Amino acid sequence: MAQLAVNVDHVATLREARGINYPEPVAAAVAAETAGADGIVVHLREDRRHIKERDVRLLRKIVQSKLILEMAATSEMLGIALDIKPDCVTLVPETKKELTTEGGLDLISHENYVREAVTTLKNAGIAVCIFIDPDLDQIKVAHKIDADMIEIHTGAFCDATTGAQKQKEFFRIVDAAKIGTKLKLEVNAGHGICYNTIKAFKGLHEISEFSIGHSIVARAILTGMEQAVRDMKQLISGL
Ligand code: PXP
Repeated sequence: MAQLAVNVDHVATLREARGINYPEPVAAAVAAETAGADGIVVHLREDRRHIKERDVRLLRKIVQSKLILEMAATSEMLGIALDIKPDCVTLVPETKKELTTEGGLDLISHENYVREAVTTLKNAGIAVCIFIDPDLDQIKVAHKIDADMIEIHTGAFCDATTGAQKQKEFFRIVDAAKIGTKLKLEVNAGHGICYNTIKAFKGLHEISEFSIGHSIVARAILTGMEQAVRDMKQLISGL
């Protein structure tokens, strides 16, 4: 069964909407783990719009499954990662104006600096995943620069509005998952996955882990975090 890594960024988004000290993303992480989350994910952005360094440090102390830090491959972030030592870093592109991560890292344009980041993190004992679009050339570079894992960007599939578009985007994900596995990369998937779109992944056993945030936190407002995580785990167990 594929694993579920729960992203708690949007618990912090709600906290920051008022600039106060609740809801607490660390408490959400504990509830997610209680319900069976296999990992906790946070994205520490340069502008600190939701998750703060304090959250990552506390999570490092309390997360019992694994802590996955999403970050840009900047020298500031590398310094923080080397200090906090998450179990895994997922390297993502980042721009100030985006509402959320808009695309995968372009490894063809940025091979050299991403390779340096991969080496630095791996030398410190941190596993490295690279968030990339389902594009065979990108995956080949991820393999070449010695990443441990790739996370395939599922946003284009999840956001597609027509059946034909959805099918085309899904086939890109299938091809990417298969080539990644062939290259002995661990293949994860994430971005935009909800309680409906997850069902499309039935039979695609190449995917080791789903990284899901917004839809789980949105459901948690109505059902509580533990139930929201259990519901997603149940859907993943049926894939
Ligand atoms: N994976 C990556 C690399 C992301 O940047 C995000 C968004 O923070 C996610 C997964 C989770 O996406 P969503 O919140 O849409 O489930």
